[in-house]
Amino acid sequence: MAHLPPVDTFDYIVFGGTGDLTMRKLLPALYYRFRDGQVPADARIIATARSPLSRGEYQDRARQALQEHIPPASLEADTVTRFIELVHYVSLNGAEAQSNWADLRGLLDQEPETRIRVYYLATSPALYGQICENLSKQNLITEQSRVVLEKPIGTDLQSANAINDSVGRHFPENHIFRIDHYLGKETVQNLITLRFANPVFERLWTSDAIDYVQITAAETVGVEGRGAYYDRSGCLRDMIQNHLLQVLCLVAMDPPVSLDADSVRNEKLKVLHALKPIRPSDVAIYTSRGQYMRGHVNGQTVGSYLEDLGEGVTSETETFVALKAEILSWRWGNVPFYLRSGKRMAEKCSEIVIQFKSAPWTIFANRPAANRLVIRIQPDEGVMLSVSTKDPTPTDSLSLREADINIEFEKAFNIRYPDSYERLLLDVVRGDPILFIRRDEVEAAWKWIDPILQGWSKNEAPLEPYPAGTWGPEGARNLLAQSGHLWHEDMK
Ligand code: BG6
Repeated sequence: MAHLPPVDTFDYIVFGGTGDLTMRKLLPALYYRFRDGQVPADARIIATARSPLSRGEYQDRARQALQEHIPPASLEADTVTRFIELVHYVSLNGAEAQSNWADLRGLLDQEPETRIRVYYLATSPALYGQICENLSKQNLITEQSRVVLEKPIGTDLQSANAINDSVGRHFPENHIFRIDHYLGKETVQNLITLRFANPVFERLWTSDAIDYVQITAAETVGVEGRGAYYDRSGCLRDMIQNHLLQVLCLVAMDPPVSLDADSVRNEKLKVLHALKPIRPSDVAIYTSRGQYMRGHVNGQTVGSYLEDLGEGVTSETETFVALKAEILSWRWGNVPFYLRSGKRMAEKCSEIVIQFKSAPWTIFANRPAANRLVIRIQPDEGVMLSVSTKDPTPTDSLSLREADINIEFEKAFNIRYPDSYERLLLDVVRGDPILFIRRDEVEAAWKWIDPILQGWSKNEAPLEPYPAGTWGPEGARNLLAQSGHLWHEDMK
């Protein structure tokens, strides 16, 4: 168990307090940080939702959520009891001006105005503007208040701008924390260290040495009861517009001048601006989209996407995307970045593969394989570099064999790898936005994504079926084959 320095005390006010995200991620993350000494004993977590629950009833739900989402070995009875004491509940419809604001104000007024307040909006993004307006009308936004916005911020550039404008009327940009939980993942943060603390990598981090890059976020789960949201969103909006483009930015950005949040975000923004636009008429060349059919995942038969949505439903929503992105810059000219994500795939695996160029000439009987750096985001966070070594089996000639230099972080450091929300929730309290998305990044990402959506809406690229439990449709393989490239699983 780690002992972390405590942050200044705070009130975390969660809108959407009975929802899945609060139960599955937010409460467990705050529990861990409380157990590790980072959450002060007088901090408060004030959940709000429309359900008419008493504080005791909500605390019972919170306790149950901890039991469901935290392994028993990390749940100490006394710590759980003390943590649950921090939890309050106000039955309130944040989007309605006439709702029960008095109870929330009553609780907040018990503490001085200088105390940090975090308003966490875990509701539908359509409500963000109204909630902020009500907070403002109720005079609940103090100098020390921040607001956290969960994704999706909009469904295209226009709707994202409308959300950002409506929140921006009440909170200054430096008090708005747009969360992308991929940035809280240890290995994603580790990209900055790996690249900028190790000259051995950074010197090779250009088109001189790199052939292509792959970024994959594959899941074995289906839509898991989130069909109504997912069917309006699809994989491109749900995963690529945010998580995968953010990872791409960290892989491709130039060294920031410092670790100051804006220095890093300025560099990321440059990458987004340098992405070559994919015109609607070109989506068939640069993208592949698919939808899962019935199949087998981890030995179990699973239904199709349409079956998961419910009987008699039809849908053209993609549950898989692969695309080829190009960055128009000196560093990355002619290096494709392949991004891919999907539900009901063969394995749960998020990783970055840096495929180096092969040697121009060989003195050996067999050609050395090109080096490959695999940065594994989850599961089993780690870094692996494939190298050619001498084949140890006795032969007359000097032949080559591939082997891996492999670091598995959890084993190497012998510590628990925290869930990404733990770090992010406390960064908001500290007021550190380095791992959050600035408004101009959201806009730049949508500007690049919108034409792809337009091309798909005109059916310029077919929606291909793929059996659940596979690596996606054939189109994804063809996307790389055009350039003689392979997805990671096909290299093995
Ligand atoms: C969320 C998406 O942002 O990320 C989900 O909305 C997806 O559809 C999830 O399942 C994946 O997160 P992780 O951390 O499991 O890779």
